[in-house]
Amino acid sequence: MIDFRALAEKYDTPLYIYDFEHISRRYEELKKAFSGKKSLISYAIKANSNLSVISHLAQMGSGADCVSIGEVRRALMSGIPKYKIIFSGVGKRDDEIEEALKEDILLLNIESEAEMERVGKIAAELGIAARISIRVNPDIDPGTHPYISTGLHENKFGVDIETAKRMYIQANNSTCLDPVGIHFHIGSQLTELEPIKEAAAIVADLVRSLKAIKVDIRFFDVGGGLGIVYDDEKTIKPYDYAQAIFSVLHGLDVTVVCEPGRFMVGNSGFFLTRVLYEKVNEGKRFIIVDGGMNDLLRPSLYNAYHRVEVLGKSGACSEADLVGPVCESGDFFAKSRMLPATEPGDLVLVHSAGAYGFVMASNYNSRPRPAEVAVIDGKKERCIRVRESFEDLIRLEKMCL
Ligand code: LLP
Repeated sequence: MIDFRALAEKYDTPLYIYDFEHISRRYEELKKAFSGKKSLISYAIKANSNLSVISHLAQMGSGADCVSIGEVRRALMSGIPKYKIIFSGVGKRDDEIEEALKEDILLLNIESEAEMERVGKIAAELGIAARISIRVNPDIDPGTHPYISTGLHENKFGVDIETAKRMYIQANNSTCLDPVGIHFHIGSQLTELEPIKEAAAIVADLVRSLKAIKVDIRFFDVGGGLGIVYDDEKTIKPYDYAQAIFSVLHGLDVTVVCEPGRFMVGNSGFFLTRVLYEKVNEGKRFIIVDGGMNDLLRPSLYNAYHRVEVLGKSGACSEADLVGPVCESGDFFAKSRMLPATEPGDLVLVHSAGAYGFVMASNYNSRPRPAEVAVIDGKKERCIRVRESFEDLIRLEKMCL
């Protein structure tokens, strides 16, 4: 059991806390599910890019899926071998492409014809052949929140099947491109298996037709997106996920790559905040805490549900909004939730905050970002990012005064 009270005492609030044992279990579970075939689990660093989190996964054998050269650098610094690093993203700058090619990482995921041309040109200048995969958009509705759904033609991601075919032929004829992979990702927080299987089947068919014209795809990258439980969702079991993908790959000798972010770290994380006051406005009850939307944006941005718990309080509950101090009506963690009466100083735990929590935090309202703490073996704790100070916030501005 994590002693949240002791952590609040020692590190103050608001605070992010991650249970590293939970992360290990998630990695092992997924790795085991995919053990029937050659596979690579490339953790999507965007979900939580703390160097200690990445190092922890690196030690377990994880690869990394990165969406900026900054993330590639974080992966390399944390000990992820270059041959397990993938660089994805719809808009890469020339300097990012050049650095990634020089680092000789496993793959660059290409998202458009224009990008492929650019990568080819930079590779030619460097005198190398760039290992690439092409992100195919299978036009499948994953049934998730529109902001995190990516596999439909109306989204900006990837290219359609016909364009992909043309690009593979072109790349295969080029001396500076080596098309070794194929990639798709239909969305995040997926809780239904059927759309994933459907997308995988479409992409597997494409791989077969490419093999017939001598384009030898060796990496079948199914993206990320495995959903987790925030409330009472029924989620996909890793074993069923892997089996669904295997079932469409008959006759293909490929390494299955997957890029889980949320699945790996989401449920491991907690956001701990302290009650400042309660107030009632014309019958509506508000609990005001010291954490805000700048620290944990998901409820404000996606209307996302996170379970909240007032520590040590079990009395009668009444409806309340749990809100932060930021000057925006959208600054809330929970709306119309049944919560017990609180007093200043009470601790409120926001669950499942390990993915897209700290990484999406900002300094809005000149609020320093929280500290992050890792709990190892269920009890030992280690600070993995110190709390920002006011000085940190103004450092780059002071240089210009
Ligand atoms: N691979 C690609 C190409 C992606 O675009 C993403 C997520 C992932 C992997 C990892 O997806 P995951 O396994 O974490 O679902 N900020 C949003 C989520 C944005 C996800 C963007 N892409 C949220 O807080 O829900």
